[in-house]
Amino acid sequence: MFDKEELTVIRKFEHIEHCLKKQVEAHVSTQFENIHFVHMSLPEIDKDEIDLSVELLGRKFDYPIMIAGMTGGTKGSQLAGKINKTLAKAAQELNIPMGVGSQRAMIRKPETWESYYVRDVAPDIFLVGNLGAPQFSETIPNRYGIDEALKAVETIQADALAFHMNPLQESVQPEGDTQYRGVLNALAELKSEFPYPIIAKETGAGVSKEVAVKLESIGIDAIDVGGLGGTSWSGVEYYRARDEKSRNLAFRFWDWGIPTALSVAEVRYATDLPIISTGGIRDGIMIAKALALGANLAGIALPLLKPAVKGDVDGVVNILRRYIEELRNTMFLVGARNVDELRKVPLVVTGFAREWLEQRIELWEFLREGRRVL
Ligand SMILES: Cc1cc2nc3c(=O)[nH]c(=O)nc-3n(C[C@H](O)[C@H](O)[C@H](O)COP(=O)(O)O)c2cc1C
Repeated sequence: MFDKEELTVIRKFEHIEHCLKKQVEAHVSTQFENIHFVHMSLPEIDKDEIDLSVELLGRKFDYPIMIAGMTGGTKGSQLAGKINKTLAKAAQELNIPMGVGSQRAMIRKPETWESYYVRDVAPDIFLVGNLGAPQFSETIPNRYGIDEALKAVETIQADALAFHMNPLQESVQPEGDTQYRGVLNALAELKSEFPYPIIAKETGAGVSKEVAVKLESIGIDAIDVGGLGGTSWSGVEYYRARDEKSRNLAFRFWDWGIPTALSVAEVRYATDLPIISTGGIRDGIMIAKALALGANLAGIALPLLKPAVKGDVDGVVNILRRYIEELRNTMFLVGARNVDELRKVPLVVTGFAREWLEQRIELWEFLREGRRVL
């Protein structure tokens, strides 16, 4: 039989396979379709003077885009290493940040470290390590602490650490880690002694304003909202389920969560934290909308997986360059010379997004003067 960490490794490999071969996305949307720009007939700028660069966590990036963490530590480490190195080369070429996938396998089996290591091909990128929040829960034996967090960052020479919060996925997995008690306290303790920025990251179910305020209060440095509308981890678990009961549970929760656009608005309304808008970002217009709502970066995972598995760096870069061109075009059509100006253009919110946000934030105030970004 396999021990728990071997199961972690096998599970990761299955996840990648399902993400490549099956329909794993939510059946509901990010809600960006209900966020509208107002076309500007006289943009009063030249399209080629638009500056897409942004600053975040003390670093400057050429584009407001991040490659979201996906992998590492899979069986034999070959596939994961290839994916991470391919993504890293693309990130290096574009000067954008990148995350690796969960380093849980590496903590237990240090020999898998190379599958996360990309510094040889991407010496300059802002690299984000990744550990799971439940591993820090006070309920589990051998809970993680500062040593594991330092190991995750320093073994791969990362610049920051992301904690993934994935209660949805864990809750529909028969072998899931559903002990979340004391995680916030553990993160607060860690934050007080950890010398690297910490990003709290959802993985497809979104972050609410209530959770965002708690994370801000303990000094977390940024939030990746990982909202609903893209890859559904309940969807992935549906395909992995071995019995009817598990399959049913995963199916019921396939579309659970806070749509990405609404999560960005909630977190921006309630906190001053930098925001990464991940979850179902599939074109540059969506990126522009995320930034206009107050995000600092947009994160992308699933669309980059296919070229990355083939080692196709140009394939990854081409997808991102298409998004960049669409983002630039959107900014031209609303007369925004840079990302700061994009945050000040008028937005109209309709339909379900309006109904949600009217109940959750002071929407009109937010649209008039909100969208504060430090
Ligand atoms: C194959 C795959 C593996 C992933 N593994 C991780 C992981 O280990 N840790 C993590 O924080 N997020 C992980 N994610 C979640 C992504 O970082 C992202 O939040 C999510 O997929 C939503 O973005 P998308 O709709 O663009 O895919 C993974 C995503 C994919 C597609």
